Amino acid sequence: MLKLSYLTVDWPLRQERLFPRAAALIVEIGFGNGEYLAQLAQARPDCNLLGLEISSQSMTRAEARIEKLGLQNARVIQCRAETALAHLLPPVSVAEFHINYPDPWFKKKHQRRRLMQRQTLDYMASRLVSGGTLLLATDIRAYAEMADAALQATPGLDNLLGAPWLPDLPGRFRTKYERKGYREGRGGHFFRYRRNRQPVYHPPLIQELDMPHLFLHSPLNAPAIIDRFSPTRRHAAGAHIAILNGYANRKRDSAVFEVVVEEPTIEQRALISLSPREEPRQYIVKLTAVGHARPTAGMHAAVAAVGEWVAGLHEEGAVLARKVRG
Ligand SMILES: C[S@@+](CC[C@H](N)C(=O)[O-])C[C@H]1O[C@@H](n2cnc3c(N)ncnc32)[C@H](O)[C@@H]1O
Repeated sequence: MLKLSYLTVDWPLRQERLFPRAAALIVEIGFGNGEYLAQLAQARPDCNLLGLEISSQSMTRAEARIEKLGLQNARVIQCRAETALAHLLPPVSVAEFHINYPDPWFKKKHQRRRLMQRQTLDYMASRLVSGGTLLLATDIRAYAEMADAALQATPGLDNLLGAPWLPDLPGRFRTKYERKGYREGRGGHFFRYRRNRQPVYHPPLIQELDMPHLFLHSPLNAPAIIDRFSPTRRHAAGAHIAILNGYANRKRDSAVFEVVVEEPTIEQRALISLSPREEPRQYIVKLTAVGHARPTAGMHAAVAAVGEWVAGLHEEGAVLARKVRG
């Protein structure tokens, strides 16, 4: 099975490329070992199951399980939920979100990684079809209280239970974390919300841009450029851009720069190349195919940053033309 990631799938996702037939889409966020996903796929053959995970090990385990069981209606993608909501899943496209035992991220400096926060919930409400549901389970009381406050404050969602959460849901598939929680006496907190009829803002999908490139003139050759390199960080186009390393190829008078680009919805590592053009002392700076980096606004800003830095190294250096945003 081809391992899928947010860098290799279509933006937006095209169900027909993942599953043999179109069907209501159930999305499980943070599927862990994939047991729950597989059981749900077997119990709901009329639906397509899409799992989102950040852990490679979980991806491998879940893929093996799906393959072994021959499940045609289950696929997994290595992807942060936040990235999928902003780049892959169009508004009004998901029938159900299932979130089992999300990481709590209690430390203040990690709080921005927490799944149950208003912005992410607004995104989920926008991606749900009318009447679509959001199921959440956690074994941590403090997390349940925090999630309860965030869910109640999300205008597009209504609580389906007569209480903020239920202490048990008989008949439910127990996940690995759930079994552990019960074994250790923590029990569960089960939430069930439904997309109501209230209009909500549909954040548009963030689309890819064209491939960025920039032409420049510099009297310096690639090794001389790399001699002057030192790692830098900057903020542009809403992205943190770290240019970590630069390597020259003497024979080809070319270089590559390793960059990490962090945007609010997506993090990418990429190689940006500097290659000679036919005209003497002219170079083109562009994104390489290594790592499947996608041309987002942040990636454009990274190509611009590399090109401008190279051009600025010499007083006769100049950017000649650019196809970069911003
Ligand atoms: C505590 S484990 C629970 C695993 C499984 N759901 C269970 O109940 O056994 C949380 C899982 O969520 C994944 N995860 C954490 N943040 C995520 C995110 N932003 N998007 C997708 N998965 C995430 C982690 O890699 C981990 O596998």
